[in-house]
Amino acid sequence: MSDTPAYETEILRTGSELEAVDSIRAVVDMLHRGEVVALPTETVYGLGADAFDAEAVGKIFTTKERPSFDPLIVHVPNKRALHDVAQVPEELERLVARLTETFWPGPLTVLLPKAAALPDVVTAGLPTVGVRMSDHPMFKRVMKHFGGPLAAPSANLFGQLSPTSCAAVESQLSGRIPAILDGGACGRGLESTIVRLHATEPKPTIEILRPGPITAEDLKPHGKVIFAERNEDVEAQSPEAPGMLASHYAPSTPLRLLSSPQDFKPEEGKRYALLSYRGQEKDGYLDLHEWDEISILSPGSGRVAEAGIRLFHVLFQLDQQGFDEIVAEPVPDRSVGKAILEKLRKASFNQ
Ligand code: TXA
Ligand code: MG
Repeated sequence: MSDTPAYETEILRTGSELEAVDSIRAVVDMLHRGEVVALPTETVYGLGADAFDAEAVGKIFTTKERPSFDPLIVHVPNKRALHDVAQVPEELERLVARLTETFWPGPLTVLLPKAAALPDVVTAGLPTVGVRMSDHPMFKRVMKHFGGPLAAPSANLFGQLSPTSCAAVESQLSGRIPAILDGGACGRGLESTIVRLHATEPKPTIEILRPGPITAEDLKPHGKVIFAERNEDVEAQSPEAPGMLASHYAPSTPLRLLSSPQDFKPEEGKRYALLSYRGQEKDGYLDLHEWDEISILSPGSGRVAEAGIRLFHVLFQLDQQGFDEIVAEPVPDRSVGKAILEKLRKASFNQ
């Protein structure tokens, strides 16, 4: 991109308290100057800018090569600040209070009517805004010192994998931004759950637009939980739907998601890596082929929660190794598994 300024991207460390203090001060200065900086959150790294500085927010779109019709999430420093960026309709007040009390700070993004003062560029002209409050200790410190809301989408180039480490951000955005705040590996590893709320009777409806670390089971005590219907035709035209393009989050190595072991028909001479769910023979994939590499999503617990934390990290590592294809086992379609499956489907060329 010719109009992207070339930066010498600084890696700001936070390993010791001394480093953290200096790094956070440097980041906050940059944000006040209208720069765009990569920051760790508990889900994935974000690309942050002052949400009330339309020019700075514009830079997020150019840095990511993100289409201007794709709205950004706004991160608030505390629960009260929700009202600076969004309007809470009276009929949803109780539900919003319950959800923010229960899940904030944390990986839940709530869509609400936007506050008039929030620049339209943030929401890509939509009347609603997605708001969340991150639980990452370094992100919280940046927010506290900055004092206002930050617009921050995932810190990847549009359509590529979301980064869950400083190295993964560097591999995509080095030279495009002044700094990355290195807060280590992201604890949750998957983007936040996005919900839309409806004031229905006898109880409110919580519609999951993007499955993530906060699951349907987690939300159930607070309302009737439904999943937004995906309609690719509508999605292609409508900026109303999040993550709207069918192919998204893709590694550069072609990825194939299998439904069963019989789906795999290897081609002669190709180098295949297996993205295994639990690394167990009884699942039927390990012995299917002489894999060039086997990476296991959940080697410890053999559960979807661990697989979710590791998904983007393992894909990033596999993507560095130049295989002809990454072949992914399916994971169970429940709990965090729903989010993992959605990412794998979007990343795969055969779905
Ligand atoms: O965990 C996360 O949510 C991360 C971290 C950095 O906070 N952020 C993140 O942002 O994933 P982003 O921009 O990569 O994904 C936000 C998704 C996009 O698919 C966007 O289309 C959708 O949310 N979105 C944002 N605002 C929306 C709105 N007002 N209405 C519908 N969809 C919206
Ligand atoms: Mg994203």
